[in-house]
Amino acid sequence: MARSEPYKGLRCNDCRSFFEGEEPLERCPKCSGLLDTVLDEDTLTEYSRKRLDEGGRSMWKFSMFLPVRRGSIPVTAGEGGTPLRPAKSFSKNVWVKDETRNPTGTFKDRGASVAVTRLSQLKVQQLVLASEGNAGCSFALYSQMARIGCHVYLPRQSNPAKIQLTKKLGAHLTQVPGTIADAGRYAARSAKAAGRYNASTFVTPFRHDGKGTMALEISQQFEWKSPDYVVYPVGGGVGLVGMWKMFKILEKIGWTRSNPRIVAVQPSGCAPVVEAYNRGREDVEEWKSPRTIANGLKIPKPLAGKWILKSIRESKGIALKVRDTEIRRAMRQVATKEGMLMEPSSAAGFAAIPRLYETGSVDRGDTLVVIATGSGLKTLEQL
Ligand SMILES: Cc1ncc(COP(=O)(O)O)c(C=O)c1O
Ligand SMILES: [Zn+2]
Repeated sequence: MARSEPYKGLRCNDCRSFFEGEEPLERCPKCSGLLDTVLDEDTLTEYSRKRLDEGGRSMWKFSMFLPVRRGSIPVTAGEGGTPLRPAKSFSKNVWVKDETRNPTGTFKDRGASVAVTRLSQLKVQQLVLASEGNAGCSFALYSQMARIGCHVYLPRQSNPAKIQLTKKLGAHLTQVPGTIADAGRYAARSAKAAGRYNASTFVTPFRHDGKGTMALEISQQFEWKSPDYVVYPVGGGVGLVGMWKMFKILEKIGWTRSNPRIVAVQPSGCAPVVEAYNRGREDVEEWKSPRTIANGLKIPKPLAGKWILKSIRESKGIALKVRDTEIRRAMRQVATKEGMLMEPSSAAGFAAIPRLYETGSVDRGDTLVVIATGSGLKTLEQL
């Protein structure tokens, strides 16, 4: 049976305008709000979860959940399909989604693979983005594969390996003084001046569904039963928003029966989302003077603040801060007891686990999945 296409177009989160999305849109052309992709749930019910095994190992077996046109050839380097493994040194009910196995060592490859696939279908020839380092490496890789020009703006204090890898994968790199917020302003200016597409976090609507495939894989790996909690270190919130969207869709189309609660973790030196969530706010306020060893989480004011808070709230989630000392301890525990090299941003999720048990927020009988977002091989100087 010829199935129709679940991906319908783009909708603005603020003014609700709908766009067919056959041109490379960034933020809403009418109100500058953030755009989300529209996936038709009735059409998705025509697909069977039983047939997923025919789709190979990469995340592209879930292409019906992605904002690409049917029959399109993905720009892929084998991202996704990552192992879900136990982390018994924390507890027998703790599982790790090991995203360090991705082509450039982080979960950012998922978002970049989807975005570059869609952007190359839309005939984009030059893209630009601001990054803390990991997304820069990912976009450099996939842009090079798709022969799209890639211009990356990084804060000057980014990890040396991230700078090197971005360059070696053929991207044009500019290091700017200040934080990622400053890099974002440079990227936006360069996009406007040179007519390049801005693929920065949530300026483009094509990254979060890619990271959402982690939710699809976790659900399949748990044989379509949801874990009780998913622990996620939040920076710009792309993975959190993307996973929560996909968990909800899976429940609506009847592939799962319930959803996990999201645990959002940030370092105490830059915790705008945790602060806003625990104060019951609708939006995130800018964090002044961010200071943490977790570079990927040093985002003083995520663009998708409202969307992130709504997602945590809908999941009846938890938000908590961890200190850099706890992040360092977690990095060492994961390296020595679990045999996994984590970068600090990724170790932040693990650092939250003892706290969740001590405060009684999570019961030791509950199943907990921690997303190991990035490999420590790019941040050896911080190990
Ligand atoms: C290793 C790592 N973990 C977590 C994050 C945060 O990701 P997100 O922007 O999806 O919240 C980043 C972002 O740079 C990262 O590099
Ligand atoms: Zn709008």
